[in-house]
Amino acid sequence: MAVDVLLGLQWGDEGKGKIVDVLTPKYDIIARFQGGPNAGHTLEFEGIKHVLHTIPSGIFHKGVKNVVGNGVVIDPVVLKIEIDKLIPMGVNVKEQLLISRKAHLILPSHKLLDKASEISKGKAKIGSTLKGIGPTYMDKTGRNGLRVGDVFAPNFKELYNALVEKHKNILKNFDFEFDIESLEKDFFEGIETLKSLTPIDSEHYLNDAWKNGKKILAEGAQGTLLDVDFGTYPFVTSSNTITAGTCTGLGIAPNKIKNVIGIFKAYCTRVGSGPFPTEEDNEIGERIRQIGNEFGATTGRERRCGWIDIPALKYAIMINGVTELAMMKGDVLDSFETIKVCTHYIHNGEKIDYFPYSINDSVTEPVYKEVKGWQTDLTKLKGDDEMPEALTNYIDYLEALLEVPISIVSVGPDRKQTIMRKELAS
Ligand code: GDP
Ligand code: IMO
Ligand code: MG
Repeated sequence: MAVDVLLGLQWGDEGKGKIVDVLTPKYDIIARFQGGPNAGHTLEFEGIKHVLHTIPSGIFHKGVKNVVGNGVVIDPVVLKIEIDKLIPMGVNVKEQLLISRKAHLILPSHKLLDKASEISKGKAKIGSTLKGIGPTYMDKTGRNGLRVGDVFAPNFKELYNALVEKHKNILKNFDFEFDIESLEKDFFEGIETLKSLTPIDSEHYLNDAWKNGKKILAEGAQGTLLDVDFGTYPFVTSSNTITAGTCTGLGIAPNKIKNVIGIFKAYCTRVGSGPFPTEEDNEIGERIRQIGNEFGATTGRERRCGWIDIPALKYAIMINGVTELAMMKGDVLDSFETIKVCTHYIHNGEKIDYFPYSINDSVTEPVYKEVKGWQTDLTKLKGDDEMPEALTNYIDYLEALLEVPISIVSVGPDRKQTIMRKELAS
């Protein structure tokens, strides 16, 4: 059986959690491959609204296994809070949640380092979620990190203390007050919760499942434009958010990947700093923010809003090998008379249709085509045949530009507000 991948094509928050939840009944295993609690994936069903940060979005489907892969960084404090919320909802966490022994741990001091680094950057700050993501991945690649497997070692506390000592030495260089000890109680409680879960060698587990005909969906976090290699560096996260991240973050070989489902909003948002050529930092952006409830699921920060960006989407489709598209939040544009589509950029005075090395605001201007809005309530739409003509035209236009079918159209946050236009190849 093949492995499918679902990931974001913009700057995150495209609606990955919702679509993973919708597609989970088709799969046996849902697996996160990168990122950590910087993610906030929202699921809405049966009147419940639930945000997941570390745990994959298949967790509400009985019998489905949810794997946190080696490429993920885990904050035991956040994980414990997530688990404590799921248990009263009847989720059998012990049975359904499996954690890679090779996943790295976010220590309290990683979060302090994140904060110190952001403060020291001043105006040039990344706008990090301050969840300790960057410093934890730095320790991973710097070969200093602690992994889930280490918590079972008799000398775990010594390993922990040694790493914290290193962090204290770094923190001394910042003009920054900190108190690591006050954060340790919660951390070690989280470690106890982690120890009560089922640790696995996720690369073996997933490859064995694959051999036995199980269907696996890899769930991305963040989005392609936040990828550490291909995103708007340095305003990115510290992991590979792209399809290739599935291979390194789960131990799944590239030739096992089949469908790559790329998710995008019918417009565009970004939270945190960095360039955003199609941003509408004005009443249009505010209107989208209010209607779309564009506030961060992890930090509550206002999301910056603007129009859809085709050169950026084409770039993301290319890097990820996207085979299917899911268009989210079309309903947010219900009241707009006209909708703008950025088809090109004027970059250093030249008209281009690709995503260049730098999209710094001062050198990149969007070129728009205006299309007619549908001015219809989409939220009760049940199928393709009920779509207003202007929406069908918008979808056809995007498909022609992007050269990939839009197989899923989402018209509201609820599980049920999803139109499957085409079944995924199995
Ligand atoms: P993720 O990080 O990609 O999982 O996305 P988030 O959960 O951070 O943000 C997406 C937000 O949009 C959440 O509040 C969802 O409930 C909501 N949402 C998802 N799809 C739709 C949709 O089609 N229409 C509307 N109005 N909201 C949606
Ligand atoms: P999901 O999975 C949107 C952004 C932060 C910041 C940058 C670096 O919910 O789509 P980090 O904490 O990783 O060091 O922050 O990346 N960012 C996200 N933006 N959605 C996310 O996740 C994000 N995770 C990180 O705002 O600009
Ligand atoms: Mg999110």
